[in-house]
Amino acid sequence: MAVSGAADHAGARGPVHGGAGAEPEHGRPKLPGAVPARDSYRVLHFSDVHLERGFAGVSRWDFLNKRAVGYLNLALHRRARFAEAERKVRTLPEFIAREGVHLGLCTGDYTALGTWPELRYAREITGLVAAATEDFVTVPGNHDVYMPDTLEDSRFDYLFGDLMPNDLPELASADGWPKVRLYGEHLAIVTFNSARPNPSIRFSSGRVPDPQLDALSALFTHERLAGRFLLMGTHYAPRLANGHPDTLRHGLINADELLERCEVVARGALCHGHQHDLYHVREPGLRMDLCGAGSATYRGREGIWVYDIGREEAFATPGSWTGERYELDTARRVKLNAA
Ligand SMILES: [Fe+2]
Ligand SMILES: [Fe+2]
Repeated sequence: MAVSGAADHAGARGPVHGGAGAEPEHGRPKLPGAVPARDSYRVLHFSDVHLERGFAGVSRWDFLNKRAVGYLNLALHRRARFAEAERKVRTLPEFIAREGVHLGLCTGDYTALGTWPELRYAREITGLVAAATEDFVTVPGNHDVYMPDTLEDSRFDYLFGDLMPNDLPELASADGWPKVRLYGEHLAIVTFNSARPNPSIRFSSGRVPDPQLDALSALFTHERLAGRFLLMGTHYAPRLANGHPDTLRHGLINADELLERCEVVARGALCHGHQHDLYHVREPGLRMDLCGAGSATYRGREGIWVYDIGREEAFATPGSWTGERYELDTARRVKLNAA
């Protein structure tokens, strides 16, 4: 285990604790309206890249909890599955240029154990993708807020805060979510947070806090969002690929309530990660589609979505990994909000 006993080794901790490592260059959130108005927006959605290159400098104390089990799982299984994660993510800027992508959305799980070195590394690599887009938004996954210490020092907000802008902060709940990004006259990306620490080794579940659900309901009928396609992004999956709910141990425990609230959305898609397979499902009674991006980097299962959001119609096209680059599979294109 590459864990040092030096608790405050440079780079292991955040600014509060005096980590002296160089911080990644943070871009400033682009101003509302900075993205040109278009008749159609092309959005790349990817998730669960699970980047990791060791834990140099992380205190042993930080592993005296579920992280010890997580580390064992990483060493025995996960590290091999995600061995080429960085190489795969580094090809995304070329994909974005090749396919004419305008906007980026990542639905979390950048790391394995939510430590400072992992998050810094992930922010550095993600920055390359974000820089290739006109605008990029994200949410944390459960692995990014793995233990309560991640929230105590707000490490995800510190490193990824510039990728979580909000054009309508007055409509957020007290925790700052949901966040809205308005594009032109017909698209809004609405992100909300369903990830939380799960200190028990038996659980990796998520939940959308009740105030966020209330804020989402208010957003759905707000005049600033009227008539827009709502591309919603969160980490947890409300439904599995077979259309059924996930277990209470691993899934979104208030998925039914979330989906009930979404019944008023006329045009939209709920985009998520967490399940490491790419899929698309419809929920009875819901006009919006559910699109799981799976993992962009899980060996043998790599997937991404590209959404084309026009004024009248919207489509989702899956992409897969060829071994060298991601390519779209237009034969599997799905029309969103189909009657
Ligand atoms: Fe994941
Ligand atoms: Fe996850």
